[in-house]
Order: sequence, then C-alpha cells, then structure tokens
Amino acid sequence: KKVVLAYSGGLDTSIILKWLQTEYGCEVVTFTADLGQGEELEPARQKALLMGIKEENIHIVDLREEFVRDFVFPMFRANALYEGLYLLGTSIARPLISKYLVDIAQKSGADAVSHGATGKGNDQVRFELGVAALDPAIKVIAPWRLWDLSSRTKLLEFAEQNQIPIAKDKRGEAPFSVDANLLHTSSEGRVLENPAEEAPNYVLQRVVPVEDAPNEAEFVEITFEKGDAVAINGEALSPATILTRLNELGGKHGIGLLDLVENRFVGMKSRGVYETPGGTILLEAHRGIEQITLDSGAGHLKDSIMPRYAELIYNGFWFSPEREALQALIDKTQEHVSGTVRLKLYKGVARTVARWSDESLYSEKHVTFEEDAGAYDQKDAAGFIHLNALRLKLIAARNARRAKT
Ligand code: ARG
Ligand code: SIN
Repeated sequence: KKVVLAYSGGLDTSIILKWLQTEYGCEVVTFTADLGQGEELEPARQKALLMGIKEENIHIVDLREEFVRDFVFPMFRANALYEGLYLLGTSIARPLISKYLVDIAQKSGADAVSHGATGKGNDQVRFELGVAALDPAIKVIAPWRLWDLSSRTKLLEFAEQNQIPIAKDKRGEAPFSVDANLLHTSSEGRVLENPAEEAPNYVLQRVVPVEDAPNEAEFVEITFEKGDAVAINGEALSPATILTRLNELGGKHGIGLLDLVENRFVGMKSRGVYETPGGTILLEAHRGIEQITLDSGAGHLKDSIMPRYAELIYNGFWFSPEREALQALIDKTQEHVSGTVRLKLYKGVARTVARWSDESLYSEKHVTFEEDAGAYDQKDAAGFIHLNALRLKLIAARNARRAKT
C-alpha cells in the first residue's frame, strides 16, 4: 500500500507520517507545498528523510504563482466573502492541495492520499471533495478519524515514543492551530476557543496591532486588467509578487485583521482570527475599479450570486459544475474591468481615493450639477417616475378604500 501525505513538516503531520508507517503499514510519499506560508520547506525534507522516506518519494513544490493566478484571483473577481466577512484564505488553498495530492498519487502509483485535517472541521471536506472530483478511484486516509490519539496528551506521548521533536511556542504551551499561505494566516483553538474573550495580540503573525501602525498615511496604486491585478505603482508584477507586496503594505498599516465566529459546514460554530492584509487591500481596490467599469445590471447580478459562490468555496465545492458555471458568469462580467485605483492606507483601513480607466462608464457630462450641454434631458425623468409610481399609487388607493369599509 502506498499513500501520498499532505505533509507540512509540523508536529501533527509528522505524527501522521509515523502512524501511517507503523500502525497502518503504508509506504509514504510526502507532498509539501510552498503556498507562501513563509516557512522554510527544507526542514520538511530533512524530517521526512529522518523518518525513512526515500528521496524520490519526497515532493516539495512551489505553488505560489499557481495558487494566486488560478485560485485567489478568480475568487477575487467575485469579491467573495463568506458570511459577509471571511476572505476564504484557507478554503481557497485546499482544492489546489487536493489537485497535487491526486497528481502525485497518479504519478507514483499510490492508491490513497492522506491529510491532517480533523474530523470536526471544514478542511477534511474540502480535501476529500477535491480528490473525489479529480480521481474517484483514489482512497482517502484521514488519521484523525481513525486513530485513538484523541487528546493532545496522547498525541504528545506518541510523538515522544517515536522520537518526533515537539516545538513549543514562547509560552511553553502547545501553540494554537495556525494555517498560513500567501492570502492569509488563520488562528483557531486553545486561547481563542472562548469567543467572549478578546484574542491576545501575540496571536498576530502578519498584521501589526492598529495602535502600532504608522501615524502617516501611505498611498498605493493598483492596476487591473480584466478583473485581475497586474501592477503596483505602475510596475508590472506577477500575481504572487503582487499579493506579497500588498501583504507587506497591509501588514505594516494594520489592515485586514478579522475576529470571526463562523458556521462550519459540519454544523458547529467556530471562532477564528484571520489576518488577510493584501487580500483586504485587493478586495477594496477591485470594488474601486468595478465602480467605474462595471455595468449596473451585470454588477448587481454578480453581487447577488456572490454569497452562493463564496459558500461553495467554503464548503469545498471548487471542483463542481455549479462553481464553474458561476465562475463563467463572473469572468464574463470582468471583460472591461481594467484601470487603476489609488488607495490610502492608514491605521487599519484601506480606502479607495481615486480610480480611472480607459473603459470607464462614468460620464461627468451626464452627472454634472453644472450645465450639461443637452447630454441629459431632466424632463425625461418625470415620465420615468410616473410609470414607476403607478403600481404604488394603485396599492395606496386600494388600502385607503379598504380602510373605509
Ligand atoms: N475556519 C477557516 C476555514 O474553514 C480556517 C480553517 C483553518 N484550518 C486549519 N487547519 N487551521 O476556512
Ligand atoms: C481542522 O479541523 O483540521 C481545522 C479546522 C477546519 O478544518 O475547519
């Protein structure tokens, strides 16, 4: 039996690796993705080698450009937010990991894949729906749903017995659960489990507390082409570089911090702290360029399907016909979403202050409060309002009639 494990190099997936070998009797192939989590990946290789994984069975892949170009950017065309606030930083990375798990399994002749998501969360669903959609013949081994290492204590015992090093955070307690990539850092569990308690500042990893943000505002210009960011301050950059630069800018100004209690797909509520500095700037900028380039009919239609689109991504249905159908609609609306937005970054806020485009629909000639040289005939509005008022008047007349009887 051969299994491809989504291996971060951290404690939990190291335990899983060992468990797959010793308890499950599998040959393990490891897959470690660079999604811009900002960690060295070579230690993951060293650890895998130490646990007896053959060099040719260790796969470390830089997925940063693919992640931003093919997953983050398409999602941002929709201005996707789950439950009004969450920018889906973890949710959008899972289908890409599934894709590579399947790819590597097919190439290395493995019949199964494995992941470190618990049986209580969303990630198990996302990984496994992704695998099912891409290759239904591949089995999934989810150790958290199988083993009896049900508590932290048992897990640490297993690690000690198997000589797996245990990293402790500065406070000498096991760290809260973190997931990071180029789009965000999420923190859940432990000190964050009580939503009535404010999250301590030491949770923050990439956004400075707003009190510590600079007292001077900073401006940034983002250029879009067909709905995707292509340049910062006039400099053309790759998708991953754009997000990296915006993360630095946003983090420095305290932008993109969210403390949220959300509804997991499996039914429970959970509390998370999210840091999405670059994504928060990008969302504001994208809305800024859409303001002048998007027709109201197309714009209101795409806004109305956005919550459904976001929920599909949250629930793990990236590789589904309905997500693809919505994506086609959203992409169609982006044909003219090109131009530049200027934003002011200050004390936790990214605000659009100017936008311009060769494809703008904004007509100063029509909207001006000054003389409009016959562009717009104000008398037209009278008939427009009369006919729109007609049914309201009929309803009011009916109500008055009924009130008398
Ligand atoms: N609650 C967020 C989501 O479902 C973040 C999940 C974080 N995952 C993790 N393995 N720590 O998208
Ligand atoms: C997990 O359960 O592994 C993390 C949280 C989630 O997937 O929602």
